[in-house]
Amino acid sequence: MKGIILAGGSATRLYPLSKAISKQIMPVYDKPMIYYPLSTLMLAGIREVLVISTPRDLPMFRDLLGDGSRLGMRLEYKVQEVPNGLAQAFVLGKEFLNGEPGCLILGDNMFYGQGFRTMLREAVAHVDNGQRGACIFGYEVQDPTAYGVVEFDESGKVLSLEEKPKQPKSNYAIPGLYFYDSTVCDKAAALQPSARGEYEITDLNKLYLQEQTLRVQLFGRGFAWLDTGNCDSLLEAGNFIATIQNRQGFYISCIEEIAWRNGWITTDQLRALGKEMKTEYGRYLERLAK
Ligand code: G1P
Repeated sequence: MKGIILAGGSATRLYPLSKAISKQIMPVYDKPMIYYPLSTLMLAGIREVLVISTPRDLPMFRDLLGDGSRLGMRLEYKVQEVPNGLAQAFVLGKEFLNGEPGCLILGDNMFYGQGFRTMLREAVAHVDNGQRGACIFGYEVQDPTAYGVVEFDESGKVLSLEEKPKQPKSNYAIPGLYFYDSTVCDKAAALQPSARGEYEITDLNKLYLQEQTLRVQLFGRGFAWLDTGNCDSLLEAGNFIATIQNRQGFYISCIEEIAWRNGWITTDQLRALGKEMKTEYGRYLERLAK
């Protein structure tokens, strides 16, 4: 399975912070924001990733992550000229996916919690191996009006999906992490723009709902799905990461560590990556290698 990170948009809610640089390159405590969604794909076992961003910001992501070989991965890059909706990722990513299933993660979505790897592998299994369908997630929030919202019955069957409803039918927001079968590019290409002029990911998901192949997995209350939409949530996300890391000594979303634990790079390579950085982050990699 292949993955796509959508790291575009103008992030006007973070102005003036994001006036001249991409939000997804900003620090969340000790690493650039895009490390977090990238690490999610890596935990799902995804080794080939397409990064989509604006003409202005794409070169910066390329500088940061390169061709992925240092992580034992393959990274590609694609410009989104106009930020006209998340579902466009599968129009822009058609060539990259090349008829295979794909996972989309938004460049500002951060996940953390026990058992995450297992949940991801289950989602992959749901749409991989020639199976039809899509897998999305649900996360209970106090105010879901800023998100896609999923309504489901007692058996977990999805009843409805709505994008940013004024009167939500449930408190379950849909995080920006989606797994799709190989029909996703054709489905995305057939979508019409919404009232706000965007190709909505929720409309794409509705096509799977109509086909009755949409599955929703719920994150429990011990799980963290963090938002970085405004200055407060950005700061809170950084503090959250710092709190857990400093308490346990394990790093969250350390892409070099995950590549190593996945067996994609050797211990020597991990040590060399650590040596390049004269920071606590670099020393952490060297300690792991030991
Ligand atoms: C997008 C999606 C929404 C989803 C959210 C998750 O919203 O349209 O369905 O719940 O991401 O972060 P946006 O961030 O574009 O407002």
